[in-house]
Amino acid sequence: MNLLSAQNLSHTFEYELFNSVSLELNSKESIAIIGASGSGKSTLLHILSTLLKPDSGTVSILGDDISTLKKAKLAKLKRDSLGLIFQSHYLFKGFSAYENLEVAAMLSKKPIEDELLKRLKILEPINQKVTELSGGQQQRVSIARVLTKKPKIIFADEPTGNLDKQTAYEVMELFFEYIEENEAGMILVTHDEELAYMCQSVYRLEDKELEQVK
Ligand SMILES: Nc1ncnc2c1ncn2[C@@H]1O[C@H](COP(=O)(O)OP(=O)(O)OP(=O)(O)O)[C@@H](O)[C@H]1O
Ligand SMILES: [Mg+2]
Repeated sequence: MNLLSAQNLSHTFEYELFNSVSLELNSKESIAIIGASGSGKSTLLHILSTLLKPDSGTVSILGDDISTLKKAKLAKLKRDSLGLIFQSHYLFKGFSAYENLEVAAMLSKKPIEDELLKRLKILEPINQKVTELSGGQQQRVSIARVLTKKPKIIFADEPTGNLDKQTAYEVMELFFEYIEENEAGMILVTHDEELAYMCQSVYRLEDKELEQVK
């Protein structure tokens, strides 16, 4: 099943980042996007995940062209079906890790799974305030929060950037199992080519074009 289809995307900030970028994501598929710093990977991920309007081109998610969706429908799509894991974690700072997960569980009416917390190694510090956690622990709490709501598409920008190699691999395995079991898909942006090549498909953003390299 097709989850996301992007056609002929172009975007310019100070300079043109890319033009005529097209991409398809199917269920159970993981895609990695690599490329030099400043090439526009995060910008592309923002466009694919509805956060930014492209200068031209279309993005369809679960069959709907998102540029034609009314505000309320777009908000519902984001809340129910999209999981965004970005460099800044957007956790509620005054709350504990667990309280942050409770918010996601409440909004999505899905349970918090102990198994998930165990896999992400955040069972121990789960009742500590977010501000007391290490950067890597915060990153894993934000991954737990996103997976708790059971999104159809995971958009992740360097989700393992603060983690040691072993933990990063374990988190990647968790993502792969998640998308397999939930017929979901993932688009991952990373500098780490080894992690990228664990994904089913790999694209490189270079010279304003997105080229499939795996
Ligand atoms: N909101 C914005 N306004 C103006 N310029 C922007 C904005 N966001 C990004 N840019 C510019 O677009 C270019 C690409 O940025 P982007 O963050 O997409 O790169 P990236 O490939 O993700 O880089 P990195 O690997 O360092 O994260 C940069 O030159 C950046 O300054
Ligand atoms: Mg970036």
